[in-house]
Amino acid sequence: MRWATVEFPHLNVLVNNAGIQNRLQLADDAEDWESRRQEIVINVEAPMHLATLLIPHLRQQPHSAIINVTSGLSFAPAAFAPIYSATKAALHSFTLSLRHQAAPTGIEVLEIVPPAVNTDLGGVGLHTFGVPVDDFADSVMARLAAGEQEVGYGTSEQARLASRAELDERFRLMNKR
Ligand SMILES: NC(=O)c1ccc[n+]([C@@H]2O[C@H](COP(=O)([O-])OP(=O)(O)OC[C@H]3O[C@@H](n4cnc5c(N)ncnc54)[C@H](OP(=O)(O)O)[C@@H]3O)[C@@H](O)[C@H]2O)c1
Repeated sequence: MRWATVEFPHLNVLVNNAGIQNRLQLADDAEDWESRRQEIVINVEAPMHLATLLIPHLRQQPHSAIINVTSGLSFAPAAFAPIYSATKAALHSFTLSLRHQAAPTGIEVLEIVPPAVNTDLGGVGLHTFGVPVDDFADSVMARLAAGEQEVGYGTSEQARLASRAELDERFRLMNKR
């Protein structure tokens, strides 16, 4: 935070995009908590900590924003990635509270809710079933520019707007054995 604000004194946007996804069976390697903890540290602790550190700087800037990247899995988890899904649910919750608290400061708090996107998430070749990055990014950026605060795409747009019954059905379909 110190380095960033010294190097870029007019810095006015924090994008919490970094994230990792581990596919795991909870009962396997139960002793290896340190490596599992990394997913929590990177996906949840870091965005919370960075937002907290940067609020004093951002509130001095005109037109500042914090953008958190959550997931369609924030709303219905993928059981093959149990810790990841929980971190994204936590980040969605935190984003709502942060937006509420930051409202008087003028800092905008935005949430990007990706569906499965064709990136290297979880390892090379594991997300090729996802939507193309450019289509997703073009749609999301246009909607943020138009003033929306929480933006999904395709299946994640459905998830973020779904009822509890729809989310239960989504969980069932996504986690079929
Ligand atoms: N792809 C999807 O289907 C999908 C769906 C929902 C949400 N998301 C979210 O979208 C965000 C971007 O993921 P992606 O799909 O673009 O995956 P990706 O291609 O694997 O990119 C992940 C990014 O996170 C950075 N990162 C990971 N660990 C870090 C650390 N300890 N410190 C700093 N940077 C770190 C990586 O930096 P390096 O390149 O330097 O390692 C990389 O730029 C993540 O938050 C992810 O959870 C993705």
